[in-house]
Amino acid sequence: MSTVQCQAPRVTIREIGNYVDQEVCLLGWLYNKRSSGKLHFLQVRDGTETIQCVMFKGDFSEEVFKQADTVPQESTIQIIGTVKRDERSPLGYEIAVKHFELLNEAQEYPITPKEHGTAFLMDHRHLWLRSSRQHAIMQIRSQIIQAVRNYFDQNGFTLVDAPIFTPNACEGTTNLFETEYFEEKAYLTQSGQLYMEAAAAAFGKAYCFGPTFRAEKSKTRRHLTEFWMVEPEVAFNNLDDNIDLAEDFVVYIVQHVLQTCRRQLDVLERDISKLENIQKPFPRITYDEALQILKEKGTPEQQVPWGEDFGGDEETVISQQFDRPVFIHRYPAQCKAFYMKADPENPKVALNVDMIAPEGYGEVIGGGQREDNLDILTHKIQEHQLPMEAFDWYLDLRRYGTFVHSGFGLGIERTVAWICGLHHVRETIPFPRLMGRLRP
Ligand code: 4AD
Ligand code: MG
Repeated sequence: MSTVQCQAPRVTIREIGNYVDQEVCLLGWLYNKRSSGKLHFLQVRDGTETIQCVMFKGDFSEEVFKQADTVPQESTIQIIGTVKRDERSPLGYEIAVKHFELLNEAQEYPITPKEHGTAFLMDHRHLWLRSSRQHAIMQIRSQIIQAVRNYFDQNGFTLVDAPIFTPNACEGTTNLFETEYFEEKAYLTQSGQLYMEAAAAAFGKAYCFGPTFRAEKSKTRRHLTEFWMVEPEVAFNNLDDNIDLAEDFVVYIVQHVLQTCRRQLDVLERDISKLENIQKPFPRITYDEALQILKEKGTPEQQVPWGEDFGGDEETVISQQFDRPVFIHRYPAQCKAFYMKADPENPKVALNVDMIAPEGYGEVIGGGQREDNLDILTHKIQEHQLPMEAFDWYLDLRRYGTFVHSGFGLGIERTVAWICGLHHVRETIPFPRLMGRLRP
């Protein structure tokens, strides 16, 4: 398979606007087509975008014109032609084809433009990624991650990578993935937080960004077994400072996507006005105030007794009262992790915070102020029946210059689901890992 040599510059569709009325060479795949006797309209994608390429019968030999009409979907093709403005197309341009070359004829492609079931599409995820909606989602995901990195890199944070193999649990022992580690057991990390606390003492402001793992046995639309989390941790930040940071960060991410991903949001038919609303300040309510909302607006099943955490349905009811994300702080200490600092004014509640996205997208951020007292933390580890020896290094952070500090974790996939307006997190990550799904 070799391409035709030509004088025209090889360009990507994304940059095609720079070549109006000029001849260009495009390499890509046939996405879709329609014909009307004398004209073929080929939708060609090259990975950056999709563009309509128009072939007039009179410009080609009978053989080539016929070939272009029968080329299977996803065949590899080369197009040489002139870029024209086309106000009716979403891209704003089309190509008047001068030369059409079939580089590789694809076999019958399983994903046709008709509707397919989700299980079928998930089984063909490696091909489904080429479809326009999935393509738009992955580009938005990529920009969200770029915004995450920009934000911390530009605000004095040091990137400190946390390990994947860990000797201990961070977020409870019920959903750990266990693995052999030579003569001992290790667990896939649930969170880099404990390491970021060490990093905060070493660097002041630190963050990690990487995959995290939880053996979630429930099949919900918000849970993956492997997901990506960004976790900042800041020395001398208290709970309020932590909420200020999370708020500023989330506004930055949404604004970045609005600036860089208009086309993709259009493909997804996302209501942009809902995203434009995401401005400071976000409402901040206590757990007790959230319970009151459930009392007034929730169904009888959504009446959570004091002390229990909220589930997805309750979070949806709470989020519906606001037009932007809501911070819920000071949950009962009993339903939160061992490292949370108790509120000195009411030790029954923790100095923690969750951020619930609007429109029912659920908890996107979890974090809080950490217990900094050696004796209390030691006691908490015992109380949670965690193995003390695995946490000895963590207790060192309280032995040698303990300090007020806070941080949070933002889940990338839930953020993508919210910003893109997707019902299920399985479409927010290139190759999702769910209970019962390990391939492709
Ligand atoms: O609330 P979580 O469990 O908090 C922590 O792990 C803290 N140690 C973070 C920290 O303070 N540094 O998880 C944080 C976020 C959630 O709000 C959610 O967005 C995401 O991680 N998350 C999941 N996303 C997809 N699938 C799952 N199974 C998830 N579990 C948590
Ligand atoms: Mg949480």
